[in-house]
Amino acid sequence: MNKITILIILVFAIPVLLFSQNKKSGDDALGIFKYDDFEKPEACGSSCHTDFFQQWQQMMMSQCYTHHWDDIEYFKLAVPHAEKDSKVAGVKASCNGCHSPIAFMAGDVPPPKPYLNSRANESVSCDVCHTISGFTGDIPYNYNYISNPGKTKFGNRIGVPSPYHQIQKNELLSKGDFCGVCHNEMSPYNQWVKSTQIEWKEGPYYKEGVQCQTCHMPPAPGKNAIMGDMYGDVHQHLFHGAHDPGKLKGTVELRVQPDVREVEPGDVIKFTVYLFNAKTGHKFPTGSVEERMLWLHTEAIDSKGKIYHLRVDRKGFKGEEFTIASDTLAYQDMGVPLGINGFKGVPRDGIPVGDRIFRMPYFDPLGRMTIMQWNTASLGVDYRIGPRETKVETYTWQIPDDMEPGMIKVKVVLNYQKLPTPLTSFLEVPMEEAEIIEINFHETVFFVVD
Ligand code: HEC
Ligand code: HEC
Ligand code: HEC
Ligand code: HEC
Repeated sequence: MNKITILIILVFAIPVLLFSQNKKSGDDALGIFKYDDFEKPEACGSSCHTDFFQQWQQMMMSQCYTHHWDDIEYFKLAVPHAEKDSKVAGVKASCNGCHSPIAFMAGDVPPPKPYLNSRANESVSCDVCHTISGFTGDIPYNYNYISNPGKTKFGNRIGVPSPYHQIQKNELLSKGDFCGVCHNEMSPYNQWVKSTQIEWKEGPYYKEGVQCQTCHMPPAPGKNAIMGDMYGDVHQHLFHGAHDPGKLKGTVELRVQPDVREVEPGDVIKFTVYLFNAKTGHKFPTGSVEERMLWLHTEAIDSKGKIYHLRVDRKGFKGEEFTIASDTLAYQDMGVPLGINGFKGVPRDGIPVGDRIFRMPYFDPLGRMTIMQWNTASLGVDYRIGPRETKVETYTWQIPDDMEPGMIKVKVVLNYQKLPTPLTSFLEVPMEEAEIIEINFHETVFFVVD
């Protein structure tokens, strides 16, 4: 080839290359690619990134499409709801903008059910994250990532040349904003129903340069590929979250103290509890806030082992009733997708009445509490615990007249549950989803004297 031919090829090739760059994102990216444009995780993991492949298989993001509760919520609630209510018709496709991006970009709506083992099951795969070149607009949310699948993979360093693909450094991958494309979600009613990245950006960690990756992909010495160099800071793909009791435990530190140590029957005693969020970079709970339960349970136990359940003092703020456990019914909007006329709902909380719940309730267009986050028309009081925030709760208790003299133990326990028990059983989600995890506890004592 002479120089002129090369020049002519370049003149034609450059615009072709530029135009072949995808710029579409969000809903505009529905159906713009084929499944085959994305590589299977096995292609990355079988002989090169063997460690990351093992890590990926154990993280929730390899199961966003297949996990039992995702399967149930999508096929039992979201898809039928989308078919009955035009306001939420878009969610039939859009759930998978985050839960199975390659199915979404392949325009497969709805994809085959998980048991059929289609490529939708790959969920958030290596090639989903490593072909994201950027996002549109200023705020990352609602799958507004720009995907450019192909031989170039985006990474956090250039490193050793790969025999298999090109590597391009993309600063975005090392920033929390990257995660926001899926970890911020706005409902069809324009409500922020997931705002993990926004909470982080408004909190202390962002200001200190602590990224999501710092806590969820901790750097450790090692190689990032079998044939690669050793580095001191290889970002491990661990992504511990709400499905890892070890990540949850100790998130909040507790202390309880009485105002006096000696009382007589009939006296009033007051306990103060301090709850310090020492561990999360966002609020706790975050993410799927519509279904997360975090509650403080307090008991007094006398010398004979008799248990008294204490009810938290009310503070009197607007919407407080949603932060104190009750046995009212809620979630009536599920009747629409489930086809139950006049559905009465299921118990809202399923925990001891009177306990304090740290949550933000989501409301459907009729003002009833919902866990169908896509049907959220308004949000209630935000009574979650912010990063490094300390919440203070009090209990005022009149000592029963017949209480045995002696030492009384007071125990506070902060419990956590991913999905309320009444919903888990009603929707036939495996009960492990309702497992109660003890985040922390503290005990103190006082004495009843004659
Ligand atoms: C949820 C998105 C996501 C998925 C899924 C994912 N990665 Fe990553 N990966 C990242 C991010 C983000 C970084 C950069 C972290 C940083 O710089 O803080 C990264 C870094 C890497 C690195 C470089 C690590 C280093 O520090 O040198 C390699 C190699 C890599 N990923 C391969 C893979 C492979 C292989 C898979 C699948 C088995 C995979 N990734 C799945 C997001 C992802
Ligand atoms: C392409 C979309 C996408 C991107 C990008 C993404 N995530 Fe996720 N992530 C999800 C989805 C969907 C789930 C829900 C998994 C499930 O179904 O339970 C999830 C789950 C998680 C979990 C587990 C939560 C649990 O319940 O245990 C963690 C932790 C997490 N992501 C952190 C991150 C971080 C940190 C980043 C950025 C480095 C990131 N994700 C980027 C979509 C994404
Ligand atoms: C200072 C450390 C820290 C930082 C920074 C941080 N996280 Fe977390 N994250 C945690 C801890 C601890 C938990 C477990 C408690 C919980 O569920 O909130 C957690 C939980 C999660 C969960 C699971 C929530 C649920 O209920 O399923 C997701 C998803 C998540 N983080 C994503 C992110 C994203 C995205 C960012 C950045 C925008 C981020 N995290 C920044 C510490 C951190
Ligand atoms: C903008 C991205 C996005 C969209 C759109 C989205 N999700 Fe998610 N979804 C996530 C992320 C991120 C998580 C993980 C949050 C967490 O760990 O708390 C999640 C978690 C879940 C969970 C698991 C909750 C749990 O208990 O761990 C279910 C079920 C779910 N989504 C269903 C759906 C359905 C159904 C739709 C469509 C109506 C949908 N999602 C739309 C990003 C999205």
